[in-house]
Amino acid sequence: MALRNIVIEGDDILRKVCRPVDHFDDKLQVLLDDMKETMYASNGVGLAAPQIGVLRRIFVIDVQDGRGLIEFVNPEIIETRGSQTSCEGCLSIPDFQGNVIRPAFVRVRAYDRYGKIFEYESGDLGAVCVSHENDHLNGILFRDKVTE
Ligand code: NI
Repeated sequence: MALRNIVIEGDDILRKVCRPVDHFDDKLQVLLDDMKETMYASNGVGLAAPQIGVLRRIFVIDVQDGRGLIEFVNPEIIETRGSQTSCEGCLSIPDFQGNVIRPAFVRVRAYDRYGKIFEYESGDLGAVCVSHENDHLNGILFRDKVTE
């Protein structure tokens, strides 16, 4: 595994729409391992591939809810319910936090690193984190959605 450099706001890479993963190969395994290492080394709860300069639809999260690290490849949010407001930050926007309105609950369909489909459901921080990371795959930063 290797630490990757985190792309900081202002770089056009963070504003691109990411492409789906089409090969579940060794390169993907290395990328996911590196994303995990980079996220934990930065004390983050989530990291999306474009944040390390890779324009693919991948993110990892660990919201410390007992489920550990979860890897999402080609995720799709298939259901949301309600709303919640919480204070967010982002490894790509150092020293800035702000309140964002997110769904109170999300259900996501995604592939794991081996190409096996799974579903993930969460409220609380998991719903916030998945929404935030999924936005990264579409070139959206949380600063765009800060309400105050
Ligand atoms: Ni972020």
